[in-house]
This record gives sequence, structure tokens and C-alpha cells, in this order.
Amino acid sequence: MGYENIHVEDSEGIVTVTIDRPKSLNALSTATIAELSLAVARAFGDPAAAGKALILTGAGEKAFAAGADIFEMTRMSPPQALAFSELGHRLCDALEALPVPTIAAVNGFALGGGCELAMACDLVYASENAQFGQPEVNLGVIPGFGGTSRLARRVGPQRARELIFTGDRIDAKTAQRLGLVLAVFPPGELLPNCRAVAKKIAGKGPLAVSQAKKVIAAGSDLPLPAANALERQAFAALFGSVDRTEGMAAFLEKRPARFTGC
Ligand code: CAA
Repeated sequence: MGYENIHVEDSEGIVTVTIDRPKSLNALSTATIAELSLAVARAFGDPAAAGKALILTGAGEKAFAAGADIFEMTRMSPPQALAFSELGHRLCDALEALPVPTIAAVNGFALGGGCELAMACDLVYASENAQFGQPEVNLGVIPGFGGTSRLARRVGPQRARELIFTGDRIDAKTAQRLGLVLAVFPPGELLPNCRAVAKKIAGKGPLAVSQAKKVIAAGSDLPLPAANALERQAFAALFGSVDRTEGMAAFLEKRPARFTGC
């Protein structure tokens, strides 16, 4: 099946998914979210996905995604809004649960659902023209794809309250200062830099990267002793992997490791 609202490119294991509705600033309609969910499941649904990485970005020069599709939302009843919110949450949860690293390449507006989608990615990089915000209160609603929880976890509850209560937009440098963005690049350099990071990570032990992702995510919601217990379990489990034998042998033999994800 082809896609109407996104396109997907798989180059050397780096899967780039581009939201492609530039006329509506890549607004997230139901169909777009369903296609994103399908693309993610297709690209990473089997063990052969080990060692891959995902980059999520927007088509055109203006937007990553300017939020949920407002035209579609004008017609929604509360039960329909709940189903729409659940769809967005499922996509964001699926991104967080992927066993591979995910990178948001934010190339313009990342507002509302767009900001929420970026925050569901492991790493967020932005172009100089990017703007972030949760402007839902301007529409009489609140974030619906996890913004109240993920923004608070990323920038702290007080700053999240300010951004969500005011609906203010912040530029890329401010987002970087707040810890929402890791680095800011000129527009033409954003994707090449994201690909370089993705490639670097994809060259590491895939089981180790995926365990690190899992332990950081689970551990951040746990008290320190429980988080550290998870780390010990994962650390020990990796000693049963072929990749551990290979990685350590490669170090001793002074050669690059050939990881297989086993
Ligand atoms: N949904 C649907 N269409 C959208 C859209 C959205 N979220 N954002 C922009 N568009 C459309 C505009 O309607 C416009 O279409 P037309 O050319 O057909 O009129 C086109 O994209 C270009 O937009 P503008 O002319 O407004 O461009 P601008 O440069 O003047 O402004 C903007 C850009 C500041 C991003 C402005 O478009 C804007 O404020 N958009 C809405 C942002 C927003 O409120 N997002 C949150 C949505 S709610 C949400 O996401 C809930 C949730 O958490 C799940």
C-alpha cells in the first residue's frame, strides 16, 4: 500500500519518514497519524530492524507539523475526540517503545501535536527557523497527544505550565536552552546532521542501544533504587549476547566490531 500523507525512505538502515502535507503545514489528520503508525510498524516490526534508526521530519521549509488537523477537529464530538487522542497517543507510545533510536528533525513549526510527536522521539534536533509550542488553549482545548506529560518531563512542570497556559511559541534557540532541543542547525544542515547521528548510533551494538533506551525510559519513572535494579538486570542480560562477545573481542583485537544484533 502506498501512502498519501507521508513518504518513507530507507537508506542503509536509516529510515526517514516525512510528513508530507505542506499545504496545511503538515497538520496531523487522522489519516496521517494512521499512516505514520503503519510506516513505523512496517519499518521496525521484525527482528531484522535491529541496527536501524528512524528520522522523523516534515516536507517543505516551513513546518515539521503545525499540530493536529484543526479542520478535522472542528467536527469532532467528545467521543470522536477521545478516539483521535487515543490514536495520537498510540503513535507516540509506539515511537517510544521502538527498539531503535528515533530522531525528530524539526525543520519548522512543531506546534501542538507536532511538538508532541517530536517529544516522543529519543533525540530532537532543530533548524534555525523551527518554532515549538503547545497552542491548544487558543482553540479552547489542551494538548491531546501527550503534551501535558511529555513537556513537563522534558522542561519541568513549571515551564510546561507556562508554555501550555499561554500557548506561546518559542524559537529553536530557546527550545535548546530549555532542553527540548539538543542542537540547532541551518536548515540545509539539519537532515545531514541527523543522518550522521543516526548512522553513528546504528553502528553500535543494537541490543545495547535498545536496552539503554528501554532502561532510561522505564527508569525515569521509577525511584532511583528501582531504576538502578533495572540497569543491573539489563547489563547482566547483555553478557549473554553474541554482540557482547564480539564487541569485547574486537576491542582486544584492535579492530571494528561487527555487530549482528544477536
Ligand atoms: N490544521 C489544519 N490546517 C492548518 C494547521 C492545522 N493545525 N496549521 C496551519 N494550517 C493551514 C492553514 O489553515 C493554511 O491553510 P490555507 O492556506 O488553506 O488557508 C496553511 O496551513 C498555512 O497556514 P497559515 O496561512 O496560517 O500560515 P502562517 O505562516 O500565517 O501561520 C502558523 C503559521 C502560526 C503555524 C498558523 O498556521 C497556526 O497557528 N496554525 C495552527 C497551529 C495550532 O494551533 N496547532 C495546534 C493544533 S491543536 C492540537 O495539535 C491538539 C493536539 O495536541 C492533538
